Amino acid sequence: SSDLFDEAKTLFPGGVNSPVRYYEPYPIYFRQALGARIFDVEGNEYIDFCMGFGTMIGGYGNPMITMEYDSHPYNFIPIGVPGETEIELGKEIKSAIPSIQMMRFTNSGTEAVMHAIRLARAYTGRNIIIKMNAGFHGANDYVLVNAGSGALTFGTPSSPGIPRIVSETVIVADFNNVENLEEIFAKYGDKIAAVLVEPVLGNIGVIPPEPDYLENVQKMCNQNGSLFILD
Ligand SMILES: Cc1ncc(COP(=O)(O)O)c(C=O)c1O
Repeated sequence: SSDLFDEAKTLFPGGVNSPVRYYEPYPIYFRQALGARIFDVEGNEYIDFCMGFGTMIGGYGNPMITMEYDSHPYNFIPIGVPGETEIELGKEIKSAIPSIQMMRFTNSGTEAVMHAIRLARAYTGRNIIIKMNAGFHGANDYVLVNAGSGALTFGTPSSPGIPRIVSETVIVADFNNVENLEEIFAKYGDKIAAVLVEPVLGNIGVIPPEPDYLENVQKMCNQNGSLFILD
C-alpha cells in the first residue's frame, strides 16, 4: 500500500479520490472483493460492513445478480476504498493525454465542475466566475444562471431554489465573442476567479469555437490571473 500511495500521489491530489479516504501514514489499497469480504493488496481480508456504501447490498459477486462470464481477477472491485484499479486507470488516462498533470475521478459532471470552481476560487482568492450564455455545466447552483439585465451585469438564478446571492457571483458572457469578454475583464478583471467554458457548446446544438477563440480566452485569463476551465 505504501508503494501504491507513492504512485497514487503522482496522479491524484493527496493520492485519493475522496478526502475521507486519506489517513496517516497512508491509506490501505484494495484489490478484490467477494461476498461480504474485501481484500487488500497484501492479501489481508476484511468484512465490508459498509456494503460498498450501499451499492453492494447484495454482496460482491452475488451469483443471483452477476453472470459468470468474467474470470478477470479484478472482477469484483471493492467500492468506496482506495484501489489498485483506480491507479491503473489513472495511468492509462495520463498516458493517453500526457498534458494532464493531476486528475480526480468524480461521480458526475456536476460534481467535477463544482470542484473546479471551488479550486479556482480558493487558488485565486476571488469570487466571480464567468460562464457562457447557454453553456451547460450540470446542476450545481453556480452554473444555473441566466444573463443579467444588461451586458456586464451579474447573473440571475435560472431556477427557483437558487439564492440570488449565489448567482450574483456569476457573470454570463457571449460565446465566441472576444470583445464581450474583454469588456467584462476590463471591468471586473481583478475579481474574476475563472472563465468556465464548454470547448464546443454541446447543449444547444453543436456550436464550435471560432478559430482562436479559446486561445484568446486562455490568454485573457493568464493576463488577469484567472483560471481557465474547460468542461
Ligand atoms: C458540458 C457538461 N458539463 C456538465 C454536465 C453535467 O453532467 P452530469 O449530468 O453528469 O452531472 C453535462 C451534462 O450533460 C455537460 O454536458
